[in-house]
Amino acid sequence: MSQQPSPKRPPSSRERPDVIAARKVLAEMWPGPARASSVTLLKALHVLTREGGLNLDTRRKLKQVLHLVQLLRPSLDALLAEGTDPVIADLGTGKSYLGFILYDLVVGPAGLGSIVGVDVRAELVERSQALARDCGFERMSFVAGGIADTVLPNGRADMVTALHACDTATDDAIRFALRHEAKVVALIPCCQAEVAALLEQAKPSPIDQLWRHPLHRREFGAHATNVLRGLVLEARGYKVRVTEFTGLEHTLKNELILATRHQQSNPLARRKLDQFVEQLGVRPGLLDVMD
Ligand SMILES: C[S@@+](CC[C@H](N)C(=O)[O-])C[C@H]1O[C@@H](n2cnc3c(N)ncnc32)[C@H](O)[C@@H]1O
Repeated sequence: MSQQPSPKRPPSSRERPDVIAARKVLAEMWPGPARASSVTLLKALHVLTREGGLNLDTRRKLKQVLHLVQLLRPSLDALLAEGTDPVIADLGTGKSYLGFILYDLVVGPAGLGSIVGVDVRAELVERSQALARDCGFERMSFVAGGIADTVLPNGRADMVTALHACDTATDDAIRFALRHEAKVVALIPCCQAEVAALLEQAKPSPIDQLWRHPLHRREFGAHATNVLRGLVLEARGYKVRVTEFTGLEHTLKNELILATRHQQSNPLARRKLDQFVEQLGVRPGLLDVMD
């Protein structure tokens, strides 16, 4: 019997040279071997070059996001296990590296849950919408608007993330989380200027040497802001953990405030918050959520 020629098949993903190259450069970072579709996504996000090499400009971002995904994974898995199709809101989403990678690694494979990216920059939102469509990420969508004014359908966001949302946009993310009664809140604050400006005008205090010099005022102001953010979340019923989220070599804005709701409110944390505000001698805008 004469042998039939084997039918011509399109090359398998394993044979794509860019995928082979990408797997090599991602070997130490990506959880497991990267799928061909992940390589296509990372190329579209300009994390990988066309040939599958690592783009040095976005390398740090990739490392940050992958660390963050690892840290968020237990909370996210717990939400997905509830089987209630959780909504994850990524606020100040920018180019949405976090949203896309979360979808690619967790939400997409889980077959449930959705991700909504919110950003005030309409052109970024349009680009991300097109990319989500091209990738077939059907449960990923975007809203062009300010965090402060956005309400998601049915007022629902189970998890809120805000990675380096500028200045007081992180406070807007807290207000958003409280408004939507989010179960999990993950904040990686960016630079912060509000409290430093308030401290400059503050009346004399026994601890005002902490912020006499502008550099100390900026650093202490940012630190005090994050302390306040943690206390506000605690007072509003969240259990709060504050950790570094990645190596300092990848970003200086390296603080993760991870909060999980476990009660309606916490009167002890409320008292600690009030005492801290009293000692500081200034009232940042975020305190409006306690009124
Ligand atoms: C430093 S970028 C971070 C983007 C992204 N999360 C990341 O880590 O790659 C901050 C983003 O927040 C957006 N942003 C700042 N303030 C905002 C606000 N009040 N409402 C919505 N988006 C805001 C900016 O347009 C920008 O895209």
